[in-house]
Amino acid sequence: MNKVNRGGLEGIVAGQTRLSTVGIDGVGLTYLGYSIEDLAAHAGFEEVAYLLLYGELPNANEFASFINRLKMKRGVPASLKTVLEQLPASSHPMDVLRTGCSALGALEPELQFEDQYRAAERLLSCMPSILVYWYQFQNSGRRIDVELDSETIAEHFLQMLQGHPPSELHRRALDVGLILYAEHEFNASTFTARIVASTLSDFHSAITAGIGALRGPLHGGANEAAMELIERFQDPETAEASLLEMLARKEKIMGFGHRVYKKCDPRSDIIQVWSRRLCEAEGEQHLYDVSERIEKVMRREKKMFPNLDFYSASAFQCLGIPTPMFTPLFVLSRITGWAAHIFEQRADNRLIRPSADYIGPTLRDWLPMDQRCILEQ
Ligand code: COA
Repeated sequence: MNKVNRGGLEGIVAGQTRLSTVGIDGVGLTYLGYSIEDLAAHAGFEEVAYLLLYGELPNANEFASFINRLKMKRGVPASLKTVLEQLPASSHPMDVLRTGCSALGALEPELQFEDQYRAAERLLSCMPSILVYWYQFQNSGRRIDVELDSETIAEHFLQMLQGHPPSELHRRALDVGLILYAEHEFNASTFTARIVASTLSDFHSAITAGIGALRGPLHGGANEAAMELIERFQDPETAEASLLEMLARKEKIMGFGHRVYKKCDPRSDIIQVWSRRLCEAEGEQHLYDVSERIEKVMRREKKMFPNLDFYSASAFQCLGIPTPMFTPLFVLSRITGWAAHIFEQRADNRLIRPSADYIGPTLRDWLPMDQRCILEQ
């Protein structure tokens, strides 16, 4: 059968990008020519953000000025705070981010495309504030100060959430997590953002649509679903027995499999090291042991490997981040990749409008209402 007819656009090249390569020869990830291993080992998330937004790594002056601009853009407008305070505590934080992004687009619209860099930096800087402002207001009734002087986005997020600056281990672990989540070629949410951009719509509409696409468990939502699975088990033996039953029922195990990578997800090896380190440091060894056993069973029974979302789950858990915030963290990072793709789409735009194979009825005669068959009740 022709691949496109299987659905899902598998194997279809839907455009060009200079931003990243994913899974060439079944492995490997690069952002603008830099390997993910090098970026995770040597860069900070803000350097990666700059690379994606502006196409090159920043020099010292450019970096200092970028960090300064991000620090200045953390504030949440009063009217947006009012909107956030109306959203119930039961809202999923992804809905809060989607609403926050859309509301910011109404309050501070992108007036012309030249404004896109300002809009991207503002969202990158303000979205952690939006998320944690809402979270703290709904959970403790506190209207927190979001305009902190923290140096990085990881520190800013953790300090707003936990009320104190993070340890160096936590700051760097989250920084690496953000680097790994920043960009991934034509994944579902990025392609969604590019489709919206291709209609010449505004920046915030494209990002809001991206957030909506990311929310599902087959995409960004997988890290939350993976955590829900891992924390069901107290030890590796119960995890293995339960997993075998799930596989026998043909259930999908979230955090495994990938559309493009065929041999491994290179991001998983990196986050796994951080997961082990954090689980040891936080006395949560069983989380790592259970995760490792699930990985072993999946490799043995299904020949499947973990993707980024699987070991991110235990790593984020050890950072003290509530599970419903896992996919939102993905957003806080992927804003950079989405923005870079919107810029790229706009720079050489053509409306994205594919075709479909029609599988409906052949041409039929119009029937007045009184001649249509009556269905039995
Ligand atoms: N657990 C168990 N089986 C899985 C699986 C998983 N996580 N992922 C795929 N499979 C199986 C499917 O059941 C299917 O089996 P079948 O051919 O017997 O029906 C086969 O592998 C192909 O799966 P399919 O869903 O068609 O692959 P895809 O390329 O469309 O999907 C994903 C890719 C990522 C959506 C898919 O692997 C998945 O749902 N993974 C879990 C969600 C996840 O971790 N998402 C984050 C991705 S970074």
